[in-house]
Amino acid sequence: MTFVRPFAFAAAVAASLCCPSPTRTEAADLEAGRKIFETICAACHGPTGRADPANPAVQALDPKPADLSDPLFNSREPVADWHTVVTHGGPALGLSAAMPAQAGTLTEEQIRDVVAYAKTLAPGSEAYPPGELNFFLPIRTKKAFPEDEVVWKSRLTEEEGDNVWRNALEIEKRFGKRSMAVLEVIHEDDGTDSEITEVEIGAKHVLHWNAARQAILSGALVVAIPTDSDESEEIIPYLAWGRRLSERATVQTSTRLILPVDDVDEGEFEVAGIMHYVWADRPQAIFPALEFTATMPFDQPDDDDAVQWTLLPQVRVGLTRGGHVALNLGVEFPLSDQDYNTRYHLNLLWDFADGSFFKGW
Ligand code: HEC
Repeated sequence: MTFVRPFAFAAAVAASLCCPSPTRTEAADLEAGRKIFETICAACHGPTGRADPANPAVQALDPKPADLSDPLFNSREPVADWHTVVTHGGPALGLSAAMPAQAGTLTEEQIRDVVAYAKTLAPGSEAYPPGELNFFLPIRTKKAFPEDEVVWKSRLTEEEGDNVWRNALEIEKRFGKRSMAVLEVIHEDDGTDSEITEVEIGAKHVLHWNAARQAILSGALVVAIPTDSDESEEIIPYLAWGRRLSERATVQTSTRLILPVDDVDEGEFEVAGIMHYVWADRPQAIFPALEFTATMPFDQPDDDDAVQWTLLPQVRVGLTRGGHVALNLGVEFPLSDQDYNTRYHLNLLWDFADGSFFKGW
C-alpha cells in the first residue's frame, strides 16, 4: 500500500541512524552544588533561586535575575546553556554582564555541580518537558516541543507562469505544563492577487517524553479557515516526534492528515522528517540539516506516482548570541512529478521567552 511506504521509509531511516544514546556525563554532586550556590550565587539569586527584591544587592542589578525557582523557566532552559552562562558569564549567551563568569573561580566539576543544583530549585518542574528536547524548528516537519515563539515564514514557489509568494505569521504561546496554542495568518501573492488567504488556529500537547533517551512526542490539532468562502475549512491533526541521536545529531519526524471538511476524499496524508547536524554547542550559530517530505492525496491511484516526494536541504543560522532570534534558509526540490519547480524558504524565528527581539545581537 502506498500509504504505508513513507512510514516504512521513515522507520528505516530512524533505525539506520539510531546510534547509542547520548553520552551521559558523570552524576553531579548536588550537595557540593548546594554549598557553592549558597556561597556564591545566593547573594544575587537568593537561596531559593528567587531573587529577593528587598535585598539592596538585588536592587542594584539591572536586569534582575530570572526566577530559577519558576518551574516553567527552569525546565525550558537546557543545562548546557546554563553551564555556558555560569562558566563564561551572561554575555556568552547575550545576557547581561551582571551575571558574572565563574571560570576563574570554580572548576569545571564545581560548575557542573552548581548548575545541577540550580536545576533542582523548581519543585514540580519534572511535569514540564525539559528544554533539552527543544530541537530546532524545521521548515516542513512539525516540531514536538511547545514554544513561546513568533515565526515569520516566507516561501517563494517557482511555477510555470507566475511565481507564488506565500507569507505566514505564526504566533505560538505555551499554556499549562505541556501545551501550546498557535495562531497563523497566511498571505499569498501570485502576481495577480495579493491577499490574506487563510487563518489557522490550533493547539499542541506533549503526549510523552523520555529525558534519558532524549525523545519527545506530541499531538496537535489545527483548523485552517480560508478567507474565500468557496473553499473548504480543513481539519489538520498531526503527531510530531523528536530525538537526540548523539551529541552531534538530532532527528525529528511528523505525520499529518489534511482533511477538507466539505469533502474528506480530497484530503491528503503527509510524512516529513529531518536530521540536524549539531556540529558544536551554542554559541556556534550555523546548523545544517536535510529534510524530506512525502505527500499522498487520498484519491490517487495505487501506484508510485501517488506519493509526492520533496527534498529540502536547509541551514539554521543563529542571529543573536543566545540564538533566540534565528533564520532558517532552505531550498525545496520536488523529486516526483509536481506542479512546481523549486521552492525557496526563509523563516525568521524569535523565541520571545528568552527575551526581547533586540537583546543579545
Ligand atoms: C552578582 C550577581 C550574580 C551572581 C553572584 C550570580 N548571578 Fe546568575 N544572574 C545574575 C543576573 C543579573 C542574571 C540575569 C541576566 C540577564 O537576564 O541578562 C543572572 C542569570 C543567571 C542564570 C539564567 C540564565 C538564563 O537562561 O536566563 C543562571 C542559570 C544563573 N544566573 C546562575 C547562576 C549561578 C549558578 C551562580 C553562582 C555560581 C550565579 N548565577 C551567580 C546575577 C548573578
